[in-house]
Amino acid sequence: MAIETTLSILKPDAIEKNIIGKIIAKFEEKGLTPVGLRMVHLSEREAGEFYAVHAERPFFGELVEFMTRGPVVVMALRGEDAVNRNREIMGATNPADADAGTIRAEFATSIGENTVHGSDSVENAEIEVNFFFSGTNLFSR
Ligand code: PPS
Repeated sequence: MAIETTLSILKPDAIEKNIIGKIIAKFEEKGLTPVGLRMVHLSEREAGEFYAVHAERPFFGELVEFMTRGPVVVMALRGEDAVNRNREIMGATNPADADAGTIRAEFATSIGENTVHGSDSVENAEIEVNFFFSGTNLFSR
């Protein structure tokens, strides 16, 4: 399996519930290592740009409003098959469909407030990691 780097965002609901540590522990336990990590309060423009691919979808306004409600933690996670592994650890977008033991099954309340974001492909992971981190801000063990 290839070593990949993917983007994870711990969304405002995760910060509000004080579960950042629990979420990061799940990634670390399952072989994904943070190689970049910071807290940021996204502006409307930044959130709109990050989620531009969803601009025409009916929930876009709600999504931007939620993602700018408070700070988020952005992380670059590295490990074997990191893009897929991250999505497995997160669980389905709608927590009602998420498998037991996944982050969204355990912590998320709705499809809107679903606690974590993860890149959905290797190509998008590169774009999304670059959105928040320059190469010089990533640290390998
Ligand atoms: S996915 O995983 O990208 O296929 O999911 P998708 O259904 O396309 O949703 C993309 C992101 O939009 C969020 N979303 C919503 N936000 C607010 N309200 C509603 N109804 C809603 N439906 C979907 C969803 O959480 C996804 O966010 P990210 O951060 O990409 O996981």
